[in-house]
Amino acid sequence: MRKTANMVTTIASVVTLLGSLALAPVSTSVASAISEGKKLTFNKKKGNCLACHQIKGGKLAGNMGPPLMGMKRFTKKQLREQIADPAKRNPNTSMPPFGKHKILSDKDIDLIVEFVHTL
Ligand code: HEC
Repeated sequence: MRKTANMVTTIASVVTLLGSLALAPVSTSVASAISEGKKLTFNKKKGNCLACHQIKGGKLAGNMGPPLMGMKRFTKKQLREQIADPAKRNPNTSMPPFGKHKILSDKDIDLIVEFVHTL
């Protein structure tokens, strides 16, 4: 009898655990993608976007590129293309092709797009 009770408790906790694992990403995914994207954008070894762009919250920004603001005028798809292969929009661009040259992974670019689209 006691064994059955323990078993029931164990099954109940496993179900609760699985439930919370399944729910966690739904409630936190957007916020965490934006904050991960911000880190990648500012990280000198990743996006290093501040080298050329002023970005709200970033320090010691360069000015080779325009300040990143009003970014909602672009769709996420357009931002993705600009970051992955800026030469498609401007063949003479000095912005590095982060996707085409595999400077950043597709996943990193997705996260950066989530952040940049909030600017
Ligand atoms: C070496 C300098 C340089 C770096 C580094 C750089 N960019 Fe750029 N970026 C530019 C320039 C210059 C432009 C202006 C358009 C052009 O010349 O292609 C631009 C344009 C853009 C635009 C379009 C802005 C607009 O208002 O039209 C976005 C968005 C953008 N960059 C995002 C990024 C992100 C995100 C990163 C980091 C992953 C980044 N850039 C890194 C130079 C850079």
